[in-house]
Amino acid sequence: MCGIVAYVGEKNPLPIVLDGLQRLEYRGYDSAGVFISNRNEKQTTKVVGKVAALRKALSQKVVINATMGMGHTRWATHGEPAYQNAHPHVSNSGNLVLIHNGIIENYAILKKELILRGYTFESETDSEVLVNWIEEIQKTEKLSLAKATQVALNQVIGAFGIVLYDIKNPDKLIVARLGSPIAIGLDKDGYFVGSDATPFLEHTREVVYLEDNEMAILQPSSPLEVLHIQNGKKLDPEIQQLKWNLENIQKDGFEHFMLKEIHEQPAAIRDTLRGRLLNEEGKIQISSFNEHQQKFLNAGRIIIVACGTSWHAGLVGEYLIESFARIPVEVEYASEFRYREPILYSDDIVIPISQSGETADTLAAIKLAKQAGAFIYGVCNVVGSSISRETNSGMYTHAGPEIGVASTKAFTTQIAVLSLIALKLAEIKETLPQHVLRNYLNELDNIPEQLEQLIAQKKIVGKIAQQIYQSTNCLYLGRGYNFPVALEGALKLKEISYIHAEGYPAAEMKHGPIALIDEDMPVIVIATRKGHYEKIVSNVQEIKSRKGIIIAIVTQGDVSVKEMADYCIEIPESSACFTPFFATLPLQFLSYYIAVLRGCNVDQPRNLAKSVTVE
Ligand code: AGP
Repeated sequence: MCGIVAYVGEKNPLPIVLDGLQRLEYRGYDSAGVFISNRNEKQTTKVVGKVAALRKALSQKVVINATMGMGHTRWATHGEPAYQNAHPHVSNSGNLVLIHNGIIENYAILKKELILRGYTFESETDSEVLVNWIEEIQKTEKLSLAKATQVALNQVIGAFGIVLYDIKNPDKLIVARLGSPIAIGLDKDGYFVGSDATPFLEHTREVVYLEDNEMAILQPSSPLEVLHIQNGKKLDPEIQQLKWNLENIQKDGFEHFMLKEIHEQPAAIRDTLRGRLLNEEGKIQISSFNEHQQKFLNAGRIIIVACGTSWHAGLVGEYLIESFARIPVEVEYASEFRYREPILYSDDIVIPISQSGETADTLAAIKLAKQAGAFIYGVCNVVGSSISRETNSGMYTHAGPEIGVASTKAFTTQIAVLSLIALKLAEIKETLPQHVLRNYLNELDNIPEQLEQLIAQKKIVGKIAQQIYQSTNCLYLGRGYNFPVALEGALKLKEISYIHAEGYPAAEMKHGPIALIDEDMPVIVIATRKGHYEKIVSNVQEIKSRKGIIIAIVTQGDVSVKEMADYCIEIPESSACFTPFFATLPLQFLSYYIAVLRGCNVDQPRNLAKSVTVE
């Protein structure tokens, strides 16, 4: 997700744009740029780095007096964080200037067509393709900019929030939205644009939020014009009065970034699957796989290296890949792997998993594996991060910036990517019957929507949190795919509420930990119907007979476990391999509500950093 700001009107646009970008840095911060213009001059300034670097670059030049300004702070999805990939992007003629938040899935096809028609490109971005596609339509079909934009946006596939400017029409901006937010601030002197309302909060409280498939023409001398992108119908926008302050807009109204990011998971998973899981065609399309397919087919084994939550995702990946593709997988703590002199072979494939892409131990593990000639295929959330640059290839999770120290959407988007990898390997190796593969794809495609429904159950979890938030210890138990979820749930609780918690394979209880069970011990058991259900029911009985407090995560409609548990949280029925998506969500909420009840600093827990860049 990126940050977009623009202003056209009587005020000086530059301070509005720069201050606005600063407030949107929570949406992305690997590069930034600003374009300003008046009737006769125009000026573009771009940097790799944060808005502070942009301010510095501007302070070193003579800045024109402008009547329009547009700015962008980038979270890279296509193309590394680099000067030429920073926005704004200008069309070949130099007339059109665009800033864009989103992903144009069919940009490669459009780019190929534009190159055939003589267009050249400076960047690797999908956004530069979009601005030239609009220009090409305007030119060949002899349309107004608004009409050409409408036609072009009906031909792109993906998500966009754009601001478009034509230097030949210096008093006008065109904005449009599909999947990426656009807020328009109204005041008597002009129009403001932002990815949310934070950039113009002190200038106006009147805001129009564009809906999907809507575009607007902003001309200070005229009323706001909003129309439907598909049918061109003029719309009557609802003007809302802003009540939020700066901080809660950045958190989208949520109390903490962690809570916001828990809620973002359906969208983050949708973005991660977008363009890769082609459910209608029953296909998986992973561009980085095609060129390295043979390496995976020849691999003797796959070694996953990671830390913390990413290591838990790696465990889910192990179960997925071994079950679907029958390739041996080992999951290693990167901090142990890097020092224990592991045996490595040149036909090993090493998959580092990292949200930040900067975890020192994981980076060191990669370098060790590379020295042995292993092929490194990374799963990372930050484009252009140190880890992503060290890999031979890989896949990005499209979770967007994760601000809360406790990883939430990073975990579920990591297991979404690992599910795609496991299913792609199964497809290539033909280790799954076609109909089974097809069903898994369909199930995976439906997960975001099911998670949205599950989020609505969060109040039940809040009530359970009130019963156990004063505990000093907690146990989390799961079997099979839910064992990594038990570990992840325990980590969430530990790191934000400071309650000691341990995750265990449920069957391990009888080898010692069951001695811990008494009437003061809450035990969170993931007891879903698919995968060892009878076994987990007997584990629940063992806890019950020792008076443990049982909080059970069960499949909707469960009866047996419900009769024994003190509290129950129901999740949708799914194949065992996909229960981690559903079982993790209530555990994230549980740790969140307990931490809030204990007055802990949820987004910045004590002793922790978001990215552990030291040993
Ligand atoms: C998880 O909630 C923690 N923030 C931590 O365990 C984290 O997962 C770990 O430090 C790995 O970080 P990475 O994914 O950025 O490499």
